[in-house]
Amino acid sequence: MPHILAIESSCDETAASVCRDGTILSNIIYSQEVHRQYGGVVPELASRAHLQAIIPVVDEALLTANVSLDEIDAFAFTQAPGLIGALLVGAAFAKSLSLACDKPLIAVHHMQAHVMANLIKTPQKNNTPAFPFLCLTVSGGHTQIVLCEDYLKMKVIGHTLDDAAGEAFDKSAKILGLPYPGGPLIDKYASEGNPGKYKFPEPKIKGLNFSFSGLKTAILYFIRDEKIKDEKFIEDNIADICASIQSRIVSILLNKLKKAANETGIKNICIAGGVSANRGLRRSFEKVGIDEGWNTYIPPFEYCTDNAAMIAITGYYKYLSGIFEDLSVVPSARAPF
Ligand code: KG4
Ligand code: ZN
Repeated sequence: MPHILAIESSCDETAASVCRDGTILSNIIYSQEVHRQYGGVVPELASRAHLQAIIPVVDEALLTANVSLDEIDAFAFTQAPGLIGALLVGAAFAKSLSLACDKPLIAVHHMQAHVMANLIKTPQKNNTPAFPFLCLTVSGGHTQIVLCEDYLKMKVIGHTLDDAAGEAFDKSAKILGLPYPGGPLIDKYASEGNPGKYKFPEPKIKGLNFSFSGLKTAILYFIRDEKIKDEKFIEDNIADICASIQSRIVSILLNKLKKAANETGIKNICIAGGVSANRGLRRSFEKVGIDEGWNTYIPPFEYCTDNAAMIAITGYYKYLSGIFEDLSVVPSARAPF
C-alpha cells in the first residue's frame, strides 16, 4: 500500500496531497491572493508566496491524511511546465524530503497530471475511463487534445496555435473590466444570460489545432464599438455578453473534440484542466456525449483547477512502474511530454 506525498507549485497555487494506493487521502490547496491587485500572476511574487506556504501546506496534507512523514514511500512534484521560480520551490522541497527520508523522488508533468485527474476514484465517482481514451485538456496556459493509450502513455494530437482556452476566458473578462482570473466570473454571469444574443466568429483552423486570438480581437472590437454607442453597454448586458463568449469558446473546443473522436474512432472521452470546471463546458460536453454515443468523464471540481491530488495519482502510477529521478533532476518552464 504505497503512500505518495505530492507537491504542486507550477503557478499561483501551493498544493500538497497524500494518496494511499491510488486513493486520495488529502488535497490541500492554498491559492495565492497576492496577484489579485496586479490583474495576473506576478512570477517573482508567486515564488516568494510558495516559499512561505509550502511548509504549512505540506504539514496540513499529512495531518489531514493522518499519515506521518516516515510512512511516505515516495515524493512526487511538478517538474514542468510552469513558472520556473515557482517550480524550483516545489522541486527543491521535494528533493530535500526525498534526501532526508531516503525515499524515491518522482517528477511529474503538470499537463499529464491534469489528464490523470480523470483516473482518481472518489466515493461519488467510481468509474474511470478505459484505455484508449481522448482528453480535452483546457487550462490557463494550454489547450490540448490528448490520446491516452495507457497509464502515462500519452500523445498530444491537437493543441492551440496561440492563446489557451483559459486565456480566452481571462482576456475576455479583462476586456469587460472583470478582475483576474476572469474565467470563473464569466461562468457565473453566463448562467443568467442568453448565449445566442451576440455572435462571435469561429476560427477556421485545419486539423485538430485550436486558435483563440481572433476571437479575442473580435470581442475587443465589438465591445469598443458598442461602448461608443452606449457607455453602459457592458453593465446592462453583462450576462448576455458572458453567455455568448462562453458559448463560442465551448463550441470551438467541442467541435474539435468531435473531430478528434471521429478521426480516431475513440468513444471514451474526458475533459480536464481549470477550464473543465466551467459549467457551460461541462453541460455541453455531456450533451454532445449523449448525441455522439460517447462515454464521458469529468473530474470533480476540486481536481479540475490546479491541485496536488492529480500530481499524487500520476506519481502513484510512476511509482508502480519504478520511474524515479535522482537529485540532479531540474524543473523546466516548458517541456513536452
Ligand atoms: O488548470 P488551471 O487551474 O491552471 C493552469 O494550469 O493554467 O487553469 C486555470 C485557468 C484560468 O484561465 C481560469 O480562468 C480557468 O482555468 N478557469 C475557468 C473556470 N475555472 C477556472 N474558466 C472558465 N470557467 C470556470 N469556471
Ligand atoms: Zn494546471
